[in-house]
Amino acid sequence: MAIRIHPSILNADFANLEREVQRLDGADAVHVDVMDNHFVPNLTFGQTMVERLAEVSPHPLDVHLMIEDADRWAPGYASAGAASVTFHAEAARDAGAVARAIRAAGAHAGIALKPGTPAEPWLDRLDEFDLVLVMTVEPGFGGQTFLDSTMPKLAQLAAARGARDIRLQVDGGVTTATIVTAASHGADTFVAGSSVFRSGDPAAAIRSLRDAVLTERGTEHRAR
Ligand code: DX5
Ligand code: ZN
Repeated sequence: MAIRIHPSILNADFANLEREVQRLDGADAVHVDVMDNHFVPNLTFGQTMVERLAEVSPHPLDVHLMIEDADRWAPGYASAGAASVTFHAEAARDAGAVARAIRAAGAHAGIALKPGTPAEPWLDRLDEFDLVLVMTVEPGFGGQTFLDSTMPKLAQLAAARGARDIRLQVDGGVTTATIVTAASHGADTFVAGSSVFRSGDPAAAIRSLRDAVLTERGTEHRAR
């Protein structure tokens, strides 16, 4: 499966978001972290902001909802123009219904699992979603360290997915080193915040992340 790099604008300059999303050449989507100060102890943007960003962004929007009551709020983000809307399993009463509502509103539906949330309940329900997000840090803030302890769960999901077209995304602490670890456990979509926006050249950082995975894959192929 082709890999995808989704820079997160959580560490971008919030006073200049239009300019920031235009600096992301080579990105496959822009990851937008929506936080409500309840599900996580941080507050970012809401639906109106997503609507406006969708108008100015040259890349599709991958919205990551870190909010309570996904059942009520998630479909609105699909209507706001997001290409995909991912909500947390821990914040939804009826995850299947939320996913159906997101799809009905025209977006791909994703389910996110915090580091301590097991994959088991979802392994035979993967068809209900277009992507599964394995959080590789505790959600809430950028700039944290990638948790290797989440890799067995990622591998479990990758095995359950098999050859189906369901994306496996990782988010948190993704660097040119940890992206290789995540890819080797089955991830194909990589969110990167500080490693892109705290570098002087976001487009170059995106290229380096992609190259790290492709180089590793090339090495594996040659070794076989
Ligand atoms: C954290 C967010 C991430 C964050 C990742 O809760 O979901 O998308 O921006 O930032 P880094 O890549 O700095 O860990
Ligand atoms: Zn995120």
